[in-house]
Amino acid sequence: MKVVRTKKALAAALAPVLKNNQSIGLVPTMGALHAGHLSLVSKALSENDKVVVSIFINPTQFNNAADLAAYPAGLTADAALLKNLSDSILIFAPTAQEMYPEGLESKVFDFKGLDMYWEGADRPGHFNGVGTVVEKLFRAVPAQKAYFGEKDFQQLAIIRQLVLDLDWPIEIIGCPIVREANGLAMSSRNERLSETAREQAAVIYQTLLRCQKDLKYHEIAALKNTALEKLSSCPGLKVHYFEFVRAHDLKPIVSKATSDPIRLLIAVSLGGVRLIDNIAI
Ligand code: PAF
Repeated sequence: MKVVRTKKALAAALAPVLKNNQSIGLVPTMGALHAGHLSLVSKALSENDKVVVSIFINPTQFNNAADLAAYPAGLTADAALLKNLSDSILIFAPTAQEMYPEGLESKVFDFKGLDMYWEGADRPGHFNGVGTVVEKLFRAVPAQKAYFGEKDFQQLAIIRQLVLDLDWPIEIIGCPIVREANGLAMSSRNERLSETAREQAAVIYQTLLRCQKDLKYHEIAALKNTALEKLSSCPGLKVHYFEFVRAHDLKPIVSKATSDPIRLLIAVSLGGVRLIDNIAI
């Protein structure tokens, strides 16, 4: 299992792969790997000759210093999990200095309004930080495919837009959400939940499923009222947003009389931990 820390070492490790015209799949992560990440890596391994997993806690996408400081890190444990999948994986774990030699600045992107709502509204600058680091990773890793989880549904839409804007020759593969036994979407942030909060968090997916089932019987406003009542009865849970949106542009919808695919997005805080989830309707 090879771990490289610099772009130079990364290029050297990938030189034989490129020389042999082998395909490269990239799985960008911020570490603290869980079964959700491992499902992306497994898919990448099944579709590419070489898989690069980047592990970098990107400071520019955190608009809150406490959130950045609390983000779990553990390269040794991450490397062990990856080694279990395949010894052939190449880990790119750069320092902030390596990724941002000119200082921790984000580029400003035009995401065509995709960043206007939801995480973009609640976390100013977040998606410019994501776009900046993902572009840097695409430049560093000459991959044909990159793998992202659908849990971060807005991030996935933004990365697809970024690739269009940059006209970057890479295929973006969105992968299904992996859930804990009680339905809670896998996230590195789940490690920060108390045992009680982790149990309570089951209400998030239960509410999404209920709305998915009931949309044929009720209008959106009625579903939202019932759902918000259920969520607010959970002690310590604060809803940031709970919205039915058009899947392609993430604009909120108020009537189910639409032929556009609908996605239901949610963000809550539970015991001070921000959790997001979504479901196709
Ligand atoms: O989803 C993540 O873990 C991060 O936002 C990403 C895509 C690795 C960029 O830092």
